[in-house]
Order: sequence, then C-alpha cells, then structure tokens
Amino acid sequence: MVIIKLYGGYDIDKLKCIGKGIHGSVYILDSKRCIKIFKKMEFYEKELETLKMVQRDAHFPKLFDWGDKFIVREYIDGIELDKYLRKNPLTTNISLKIIDLYDGIVKAEFSRHDTMLFHIFITQDSTLRMIDTARVMKEAYSCPKLLLKGLKNLGYREDFLNHVKLLRPELYETWGYTF
Ligand SMILES: Nc1ncnc2c1ncn2[C@@H]1O[C@H](COP(=O)(O)OP(=O)(O)O)[C@@H](O)[C@H]1O
Ligand SMILES: [Mg+2]
Repeated sequence: MVIIKLYGGYDIDKLKCIGKGIHGSVYILDSKRCIKIFKKMEFYEKELETLKMVQRDAHFPKLFDWGDKFIVREYIDGIELDKYLRKNPLTTNISLKIIDLYDGIVKAEFSRHDTMLFHIFITQDSTLRMIDTARVMKEAYSCPKLLLKGLKNLGYREDFLNHVKLLRPELYETWGYTF
C-alpha cells in the first residue's frame, strides 16, 4: 500500500528537508517558501498564533498558508547567527541589529523577550530574521538569558553588553538587575 502524505496539497515526500527541530520538520517549497510539519497540535497552534502577531514586522517570516498541523512560511536564505559569529566578529552594527530584533519581540507582545542564537538567521544583506516563534509565550521574562548565554559561549557576552550599554543605556539598566 502506498501512503501519500499530503499536507494541504503539498506532497512532502517530493520535497527536500531543510531542518528538523523538536517540534517538527521543515521542507523547502521554492526560493521564497517552506513548509513546517508539526508533530503536535499544541505547537502548531502556538506557532501559527505567534506568527500572525508579527506579520507587520520584517524580522519574522511571512505567513503564506496553514492547515492540519502544517504552516507554509517564508523561507529565509541565510545562516544561523551562532555559526556566523564563529567566523565573523560581533560588530556594533550586528549588536544594534540584535537589539532591533529584541525590540520587535517586545513590540509583538511576546511574553518571553528572548530567543536562541540559532533561531536568528543572518541574510546576505546582513538582515536579522527570527525563524522559530513556537515558544515565545511559554515563559515570561525580559532579560534575554538564552541569547546572552549563546553569546557567552562564543566569547561575545561582554562585548555585546558593552554595545548595549553604549547604544541603549536604559535597556542595559533594566537587564542589569537580572544578568
Ligand atoms: N523559514 C525558514 N527558513 C529557513 N530555514 C528554516 C526556516 N524554518 C526552519 N528552518 C530550518 O529548519 C530547522 C527547524 O525549524 P524550527 O522552526 O526551528 O523547528 P522546531 O520548532 O521543531 O525547532 C531550523 O533550525 C532551520 O535550520
Ligand atoms: Mg527550532
């Protein structure tokens, strides 16, 4: 018996897998779109709801289509920020872009003002995009501890905090009580 896995008309057996995470697998559809198939309804709903909240902010992928545990969203052609920072320095400009993304997260009213470095993609034109929003409502806090931990592992925690102090002293003060 041949079982064809169709998700809203998309036959994933014919598509190239570009990533697997804890919640699902992602397949490329074309140069602009990819499809994420979720294992659990709960995370499908969480990701759909949070992606809808940020459709007016270019830091996040565009939403094209969704259905039974799948979401078609914008394919981001770039590399993970942790990989990038292993070969390139953390400049003030990159820190500024991380802060811009942080501001986008706060503005979106996500409750967790944070993300992992590998969920941030840097594109050819040095734009930062956050690809995975499934867990942004799971906890509530403002100091981006996961982000700071990722930067610490790369030896950039102090540099980044110095940039924040310089660029956004009031933000540094707020975070200062928790890091
Ligand atoms: N929009 C996207 N553009 C490019 N690559 C993506 C995109 N979404 C996911 N990926 C790739 O697929 C992997 C798994 O996707 P992700 O959304 O993080 O799944 P999970 O929620 O299961 O962790 C990512 O780490 C990334 O490498
Ligand atoms: Mg992920």
